[in-house]
Amino acid sequence: DKDVFILAIESSCDDTAAAVLRNNKVLSNVVAGQKIHEEYGGVVPELASRAHQQNIVPVVDMALKRANVNKKQLSAIAFTQGPGLMGSLLVGTSFAKSLSLSLNIPLIAVNHMHAHILAHFIDEEGFDKPEFPFLALTISGGHTQIVKVNSFFNMEIIGETTDDAVGEAFDKSAKIMGLPYPGGPLIDKFAKEGNPKKFQFTKPKVDRLNFSFSGLKTQILYFIQRNVLENPNFIEENKADICASIQHTIIEILMEKLKMAVAETGITQIAIGGGVSANSGIRETLKNAEGKYGWKTFIPKFEYTTDNAAMIGIVGYQKYLENRFNDASIVSKARIEF
Ligand code: KG4
Ligand code: ZN
Repeated sequence: DKDVFILAIESSCDDTAAAVLRNNKVLSNVVAGQKIHEEYGGVVPELASRAHQQNIVPVVDMALKRANVNKKQLSAIAFTQGPGLMGSLLVGTSFAKSLSLSLNIPLIAVNHMHAHILAHFIDEEGFDKPEFPFLALTISGGHTQIVKVNSFFNMEIIGETTDDAVGEAFDKSAKIMGLPYPGGPLIDKFAKEGNPKKFQFTKPKVDRLNFSFSGLKTQILYFIQRNVLENPNFIEENKADICASIQHTIIEILMEKLKMAVAETGITQIAIGGGVSANSGIRETLKNAEGKYGWKTFIPKFEYTTDNAAMIGIVGYQKYLENRFNDASIVSKARIEF
């Protein structure tokens, strides 16, 4: 059979990304981040959409060039339909539509959250693919979900956050400590040198498989304020231990719910996805869960954890095989039914 070449575009938040896949293999994966948001302590939607407009053409050109693929070889264009920031999504959607029209090839809309999960089906040496059904823990700046994945296109959310996403818990904690956005990777970095049991935080009590992180954020805010009042250098002197303790608490919350989900479903294959799955503490804990609980855990290659277009491309490829195409009247969706 003929090779399938997919050009994938992701622009749901603050990263402009493009990737080229040959079947289930990634030939190129380009991400242009946006430094501009750092000084604002979070993503500014208006600035994000402007930067996407500026970046999208060079990023796509670079992805094609690195893959050594000509536009005329492409089989289809896949793009992120949502969920995400509307102004950001519009840039990728409009670009994908125009390109598919001009090349006269199919257009494929992809759900960003499905893509974080299905990134595990990218063919990568040293990475196994999960078998259906499996459980996915999707943890990002906007989402915290436990998903029962029955097949490529049949998934059920069995648990989710009732307030903040876990990425927000990392980023807001970091902000309280005076660290720049996004603080998640910095907490991860400092936590490596710290004592995770130095400071204790209470874990929220939430129904069944659901999560809550806003209480933890408030608890951390008061904890920092109280201590800084006594010692203005408290954060500087205890940075590693604070980060390690926060990270440890978050990991315990996630693991507790995962154990419940395994008990409830009887499924012991667990895949993680989303930006927060880049966290080294979470990766290590899940790796250890294989020996500890007899699970089989799937941890994505680092570059497929935070927002990227390769994950959009692998969903595009699966949809291509099933002729799941969209016409040019398709619209971006800030929120999307799972
Ligand atoms: O999936 P993603 O790139 O964008 C969304 O769809 O939200 O996730 C971004 C989130 C941010 O909250 C960021 O702080 C977090 O992922 N993150 C991390 C790490 N790397 C990224 N959180 C903890 N530890 C990390 N190493
Ligand atoms: Zn994401």
